[in-house]
Amino acid sequence: MIIDGKKIAEGLREKLKKKIIEFKSNLKIAPGLSVILVGEDPASQIYVKNKIKYSKEIGIDSEVIRYPENIKEKIVLDKIIELNKNKKVSGILVQLPLPQHINKQKVIETILPEKDVDGFHPINVGNLSSGNESKIPCTPLGCLILLKEVEKNLSGKHVVIIGRSNLNGKPMAQLLLRENCTVTITHSKTKDLKSECNKADIIITAVGKPKLVKGDWVKKNAIVIDVGINKTNNGIVGDVDFDEVAKIAKAVTPVPGGVGPMTIACLLSNTVECFKRANS
Ligand code: GUN
Repeated sequence: MIIDGKKIAEGLREKLKKKIIEFKSNLKIAPGLSVILVGEDPASQIYVKNKIKYSKEIGIDSEVIRYPENIKEKIVLDKIIELNKNKKVSGILVQLPLPQHINKQKVIETILPEKDVDGFHPINVGNLSSGNESKIPCTPLGCLILLKEVEKNLSGKHVVIIGRSNLNGKPMAQLLLRENCTVTITHSKTKDLKSECNKADIIITAVGKPKLVKGDWVKKNAIVIDVGINKTNNGIVGDVDFDEVAKIAKAVTPVPGGVGPMTIACLLSNTVECFKRANS
């Protein structure tokens, strides 16, 4: 089975669109999303363009605030403080990576936790890991929704996560613990990645290594979620050798058309959640 992230994301966006129509008729206001983009990173340009396009499509008032690569950190921080105070702005996202001279952590911590649609603020990170209500990072949330399309009850499943980033690996582990999974987080220093993967009921990979996960790494009937987006001479490929793995796995996500569209749909969902909380 190929997990159709594009279609599942479309369904989620459709639901959100209906909710926003309701909000607009009841409250006379719409959710707002402000995205800050610093510099010219080509991948970031595409991601932000899509975030804005899809948010507008479902009725979110979205804007991009662009700064050149050499912008002073203080200007970015002051803009975030202004957006924090603006009632029309439900969610704030600063696209990563940022240039070296800007302190990423300072930027993240300046965003009000209530408007932190990425779920990167330490208050949200802490709440997620203590099992409290929190904003949930968009990519792991998207992966969880895809997993649940295949397997409603994840309790007791052994999940092997490849990659320990703050964006995906670590929050993914927290979300899966909440679902009563047994979670192994692997990374670049893991001794025998293949043998770890061979034990997994579910593999989730986000390391940016083209076709790292081979067919013989995967247990029969495992579920494989591929977060990787790698540019190669043969086009965009994931971290999974799709053709090999699709023959063995019970379900696998394609790249493109798997996790990518879900990340954006979950950003929209987080924005609507922030709006709802601010207006309830
Ligand atoms: N860069 C790559 N992925 C992400 C993401 O989910 N959020 C932000 N802010 N930047 C990113």
